[in-house]
Amino acid sequence: MNLLAIETSCDETAAAVIAETGDSARPWALRSNIVASQVAIHREWGGVVPELASRQHVRDICGVVEAALSAADMTLDDAGALAVTQGPGLVGSLLVGVAFAKALAWSRGLPVVPVHHLAGHIESLTLAHGELPLPAAVLVVSGGHTSLYLVPAPGEYRLIGRTRDDAAGEAYDKVAKLLGLGYPGGPAIDRMAREGNDRAVDFPVARLTHADRNRPRATADGLLPPDVARRLDFSFSGLKTAVLRLVRERTGGVAAGKAAASDASGVTLPPGDVADICASFQRVVVDALLDRTFEAAGWLGARSIGIAGGVSANSRLRAEADARGRRHLIPVFVPPLALSTDNAAMIGAAGLRRLRSRGPGPLDFNAEAGLTL
Ligand code: KG4
Ligand code: ZN
Repeated sequence: MNLLAIETSCDETAAAVIAETGDSARPWALRSNIVASQVAIHREWGGVVPELASRQHVRDICGVVEAALSAADMTLDDAGALAVTQGPGLVGSLLVGVAFAKALAWSRGLPVVPVHHLAGHIESLTLAHGELPLPAAVLVVSGGHTSLYLVPAPGEYRLIGRTRDDAAGEAYDKVAKLLGLGYPGGPAIDRMAREGNDRAVDFPVARLTHADRNRPRATADGLLPPDVARRLDFSFSGLKTAVLRLVRERTGGVAAGKAAASDASGVTLPPGDVADICASFQRVVVDALLDRTFEAAGWLGARSIGIAGGVSANSRLRAEADARGRRHLIPVFVPPLALSTDNAAMIGAAGLRRLRSRGPGPLDFNAEAGLTL
């Protein structure tokens, strides 16, 4: 069966077709994967403007869905089911995809599966590599999320660590903005970091020792000793502030504590300094992500590690994860670049997983900005 998937949670309008293979080790095949990026629109504003994003989704969605069907060499008559991102994300953006998918499902008499965006990122790994050896420790690291999951069985996701403040991708984007590197910041910092000395600046590494006062509901209580569970949480806002302070010092800039980070954009640091800051910042972020992921994998007896989400496109993160995996004798899986950043193929994969385990569910679901996994 072919499933048509739609993703509009943030600033990419995406559609894809996934086919079932009948092979339980490699259950899905990618038939098409179309992404209309809005980066050029939001770059002008230094970040995603929600209202502009939802309007652009309305403009693009029909064409993107048609392109996905045509790239898969099929028509709607060949689709057996639909999947769509229900949340989390920008509610106006989500609504475009959800309304479109429900209308299409109703008019064609097709089942439609609502999908959690992060389940999609996790299943991008299975789409690309086949079923992972389980249990797996999976890090989802993107612009909106930095969360560690235990995947004990196919389609089961248990949250074991998360950021207490900024997501890693958000830190990349904010630091790039204050260094004047533009939007999105991840790829820009990744590129600049290659020219810099990663030991030039000794940025602080956040270690969380206190209990989390705002714990989400779905933590994996009882799976880990409490002090270990605390250590698995992330924090990136202190690092971002440290970069801001350094930039101000070096530029003799705005009085500390007075201006927001964005006021420091447009500063002119020598390119060598910018490259050193990028390389040092990236070293600290990558170490923080991998230290916790490998520690969690050890405690949980994981048989594999997965890293997914937009930041998994990062070249240092990929190289270091691979090197650590070899050292620790644990296989590490990362999606190919096209499946790292937001796409509908991963939503199709998670949709097929859910369709086969739970069925499609009723048509009356709605977009949910704060949907939990
Ligand atoms: O998964 P994604 O496309 O959207 C969200 O669900 O958030 O992730 C986007 C994030 C952005 O913050 C972007 O800066 C970051 O992924 N990103 C990267 C790289 N490519 C994209 N971060 C670091 N290095 C990269 N090469
Ligand atoms: Zn994402």
